[in-house]
Amino acid sequence: MGSLSKPSYRIVAIPGEGIGPEVVEASLQILQHVAKIEGFTLRVDYGWLGATAFLQMGSYFPQATVQLCDGANGIVFGAVSQGGLLELRKHYDFFCNLRPIRIVDSLVHKSSLRPEKVQGLDILIIRELVSGIYFGPAGRSSDEKGAYGYHTMLYYDEEIRRIARIALQKAQERRGLLTVAHKENALPHLGWTRLVQEEAIKFPGVVVEPMLVDNLAMQMVLNPQRFDTVLAGNMFGDILSDIGGALVGSLGLLGSASLNADGFGLYEAIHGTAPDIAGKGIANPLGTLGACVLMLQQWGEVGAAQRIIAAQEQVLSEGYRTADLFPQGSEILINTEKLIDLLLEKLSS
Ligand code: IPM
Ligand code: MG
Repeated sequence: MGSLSKPSYRIVAIPGEGIGPEVVEASLQILQHVAKIEGFTLRVDYGWLGATAFLQMGSYFPQATVQLCDGANGIVFGAVSQGGLLELRKHYDFFCNLRPIRIVDSLVHKSSLRPEKVQGLDILIIRELVSGIYFGPAGRSSDEKGAYGYHTMLYYDEEIRRIARIALQKAQERRGLLTVAHKENALPHLGWTRLVQEEAIKFPGVVVEPMLVDNLAMQMVLNPQRFDTVLAGNMFGDILSDIGGALVGSLGLLGSASLNADGFGLYEAIHGTAPDIAGKGIANPLGTLGACVLMLQQWGEVGAAQRIIAAQEQVLSEGYRTADLFPQGSEILINTEKLIDLLLEKLSS
């Protein structure tokens, strides 16, 4: 059949702990369903990471998981409470973390802000993921003043330049505004502003707007609609992206893609293990599903991605809500399983 044969993908699912296994399983059901509709096949291998990996295999980041991930088309990740995740990101050099913050029309009333403040909201946060303070020299020691701990925010210029080029490219494809988070009034040696501006010469259509990260955090709450593409280092991006959860109504809605230079990626929700609701079957799988949509788009399976987005918008517009979205009035409280059933139903119709 040659070029007419069905594409076939292999992913590694790493459910992790807490609500991780629930949201991954839910998302895989949807993925398998659209695969059937769109005519591609999806093979899933299961990998271990974090505390569950440590219990099973004596390591937070087992070699067996790496072997499984090598050569896969993507990694779908649930959540871990400790260990393994940063190692996984670093191992594959997933430096480019894309965190879209997009409001769903029917959820404007769920935002922490008034609906008119978030109507049409569409921000892309691009977070550097394998350097900065998460990976700089760190440790505990002591001197004559006593014991101390330290983490160092260290960035090679080239690490800033490579993420800057991607952010500029994304901004060019979007609305042409790139806001760059920095803290140069206190941390002047990290050259985010200058380095991004130098790279921007190759992207004449893009306006680069450096902004002190504390002010940026405030502006995201005061006037989020003014933002288009936001570039941030590892820790600032972590913090800013949680504000995104408040803007769109629930952190449970947000997914992310972490890519390396080859386009290989790790796809995960922005939320964590949520131990308070784990095992109850009530977690919102839309964050992980959103990450899977990013994976499909990365593969060029845009039809499949579009189907999932449409089904999700339909279910939400009919008033169905998982607990994190605090159903009120005529809205209908549903659990994870019911949400998946509804999505499968919409996908088939
Ligand atoms: C995130 C998370 C992680 C991070 C934690 C779990 C290490 O908060 O992906 O936003 O800080 O990167
Ligand atoms: Mg975070």
